[in-house]
Amino acid sequence: MKKAVLAALLCAIYGIASVNTAVCKGCHGQNFEKKALGVSQVVADMNVTSVETALIGYKNGTYGGSMKGVMKGQVSKYSDDELKEVAKTLVK
Ligand code: HEC
Repeated sequence: MKKAVLAALLCAIYGIASVNTAVCKGCHGQNFEKKALGVSQVVADMNVTSVETALIGYKNGTYGGSMKGVMKGQVSKYSDDELKEVAKTLVK
């Protein structure tokens, strides 16, 4: 957790890997502990690899359920590297 905070601070300072998770929390919960809109998996219970796969897959249209369009809008502006970075900060 401390590492995540530090990474977030460094990113804020240097402007890298700047996925704005404040937006995500509106649907997924402060600690990604909720089923977003009642349909998603609990992201906090996923592992890093599956979060990466999900985020990059939503961007490329290769992953997701009936509401994947919602997530595509959230991630399409980020690079794969940014999505991999944020996946590490969301789960242990
Ligand atoms: C408007 C509400 C909303 C916002 C904002 C949002 N999500 Fe989601 N998220 C969803 C929904 C709904 C799903 C399930 C979509 C589906 O596959 O049908 C989902 C799915 C996911 C999944 C995969 C979970 C699964 O069920 O496989 C991850 C990981 C995720 N979101 C991360 C994020 C991140 C990171 C952000 C911010 C950049 C974000 N979400 C912003 C609603 C949202």
